[in-house]
Amino acid sequence: MKDTLCRICNHKLAPIMSFGDMPIANGFLSKDEFDQEYFFELAIGFCPQCFMVQLLEQPDREVMFHENYAFFSSTSMRMRDHFQRYAEWVIQTYLPAENPFVVEIGSNDGIMLQFFAQRGIHHLGAEPSANVAQVAIQKGIQTEIAFFDEALAEKIVREHGQADAILAANVICHIPYLHSVVKGVKKLLKPEGVFIFEDPYLVDILQKTSYDQIYDEHVFYFSIASLASLFAQHDMEIVDVLPQNVHGGSMRYIIANKGQRQDSERVRLYRQQEEAMQIFSLDTYQQFCSHVEESRDKLMSLLREVKQSGKKVVGYAATSKSTTVINYCGITPDLVEYISDTTPIKQGKYSPGMHIPVRPYQEFTRNYPDYALLFGWNHAEEIFAKEQAFKTAGGRWIVYVPQVHVIS
Ligand code: SAH
Ligand code: TMP
Ligand code: ZN
Repeated sequence: MKDTLCRICNHKLAPIMSFGDMPIANGFLSKDEFDQEYFFELAIGFCPQCFMVQLLEQPDREVMFHENYAFFSSTSMRMRDHFQRYAEWVIQTYLPAENPFVVEIGSNDGIMLQFFAQRGIHHLGAEPSANVAQVAIQKGIQTEIAFFDEALAEKIVREHGQADAILAANVICHIPYLHSVVKGVKKLLKPEGVFIFEDPYLVDILQKTSYDQIYDEHVFYFSIASLASLFAQHDMEIVDVLPQNVHGGSMRYIIANKGQRQDSERVRLYRQQEEAMQIFSLDTYQQFCSHVEESRDKLMSLLREVKQSGKKVVGYAATSKSTTVINYCGITPDLVEYISDTTPIKQGKYSPGMHIPVRPYQEFTRNYPDYALLFGWNHAEEIFAKEQAFKTAGGRWIVYVPQVHVIS
């Protein structure tokens, strides 16, 4: 494993574990691209000084986010509802009645900003992946096709003025140059403005052994403790935290300039919970590591057993998270025949690394397999509700979070 310095405080990282060579999580590819596929060592470490858990090595941003980015936020109806509630809560709680201005970092296909646009609220998205940004632009959502950093923030201030709220979801943990992002946020925000973002929460990852949250895009695994230390360096503070039941367990953080807002009791309560979970101790991460290995061994023996009994298994949802599971466990196309997915750009392609075919969802409903391996476990509620007929036909689900088990 590489020697890496903490991206937040420069202290030397303590390595936690390596998942071996990994491809790009959203790098679904065609056969003629197999021989140029990009691999890097996926490994995480822990900073003993500021407690930030992070990747030791992350591929360059242009390798992950570009005009063929495969993740379209609006593929999940439940996430659409989630972002509608997020937007309405921001409008009611944080936006002034007169001329509010909202900026979203990583606005993707406009899943959240559409709710501001519909109300005629002045908004701007910063989204570097041109294909998903174009979908938003076509919906009438103002979008700057660019990576957010300090320079972009200065440009936005020049062109639009300062913002009342800067919003983000599932993107701040993707950005290695967080000091530049926070400096940009500070310049772009009005002094009394708020920066609100949510990302998968470290405590959920540890509690659920959801190691598939670990992949190239997720450079950081946030806790309140580690973020508090980042924002303190910029004279900002976490004034509230709100746990979210999406993406397998996320935390929403509300950040303000120091002294501008009263902080909520919840911040203290959740920090205590982090302490109780011993997120400051390397032992906790070593235990996580053995839980991950156990999970892999159980999943692989289950898949081999099912295969030996002549049953057919297919994957359900070609999620970015599945890339870690498939490649770390070594799930080959002879164990999982194909992965069903509703995203057109992924269909007809192959999964990163192991090259399992990705096929349209209709193939799944036309000819149910004996087992479906639920790679989209974070969307389980939505998926189980829609797949009653699969269950009635005798189909079984294989799930691996929080434990490997079969649902029949
Ligand atoms: N917010 C959406 C999308 C999350 S995926 C949701 O929660 O569903 C992460 C998105 O962030 C991608 O669309 C990616 O292109 C974008 N992104 C990555 N780095 C970024 C950066 N530095 N600034 C702004 N957006 C970025
Ligand atoms: P995510 O877990 O990274 O959000 O990825 C979601 C992927 O799952 C996306 O490729 C679409 C796919 N999907 C389905 O195929 N069917 C579904 O019902 C849902 C909710 C998602
Ligand atoms: Zn650190």
